[in-house]
Amino acid sequence: MKNIVVLVSGGGTNLQALIDAQNRGEIKNGKITCVISSNPNAYALERAKNNGIDTSVIKRKDYDAFEDYDIALTNLIKSKNADLVVLAGFMTILGKIVIKSFENRIINIHPSLIPSFCGEGFYGLHVHESALARGVKVTGATAHFVNEVCDGGPIIIQKAVEIKNGDTPEILQKRVMEQAEWKILPKAVSLFCDDKIKVIGSKTEILN
Ligand code: GRF
Repeated sequence: MKNIVVLVSGGGTNLQALIDAQNRGEIKNGKITCVISSNPNAYALERAKNNGIDTSVIKRKDYDAFEDYDIALTNLIKSKNADLVVLAGFMTILGKIVIKSFENRIINIHPSLIPSFCGEGFYGLHVHESALARGVKVTGATAHFVNEVCDGGPIIIQKAVEIKNGDTPEILQKRVMEQAEWKILPKAVSLFCDDKIKVIGSKTEILN
């Protein structure tokens, strides 16, 4: 059984999707053992507590030097014996130390079809504003491993979502979450826990 540590900052609907998948028995070889938040007021922490999951808070502001924060976050995750780290709306940039310590063991969910609308500055509603401004007809979400390049790690699963007439960034964000993020993130986590994701260079192969 793999220990899953989920990092959050906000509402935690992706965390909820993971908890629901776990409760439905869809993550057979993993268990969410801890939720770590960068924000003490994140509603995601309530979701964790309501489900009997251990919680911790680590604030970037509590450390002067970024490297000290990077070390503290790495040690905190290690102290939870994490086999897998999931970024579910974690709004703080990860440092080199934590990324290296958990190489190909950190999964992020991004609300677009990478390599479109990703990288520095593409977070939250900005992603959907940009997709609408460009006039794309299809967007979606991507579950991927985290490496030192922002949104640049090996892609695990992608799911497309249609853009409709009259979409606003808020409407599109909700559709992308419902139709893509909440489905592919638990699926990627389940595949990881089943040892079904093989990383080959900058790509992945999903084993049958
Ligand atoms: C999601 O849109 C996710 O793709 C992005 O941050 C948002 C988190 O939302 N990385 P929530 O906290 O899971 O509701």
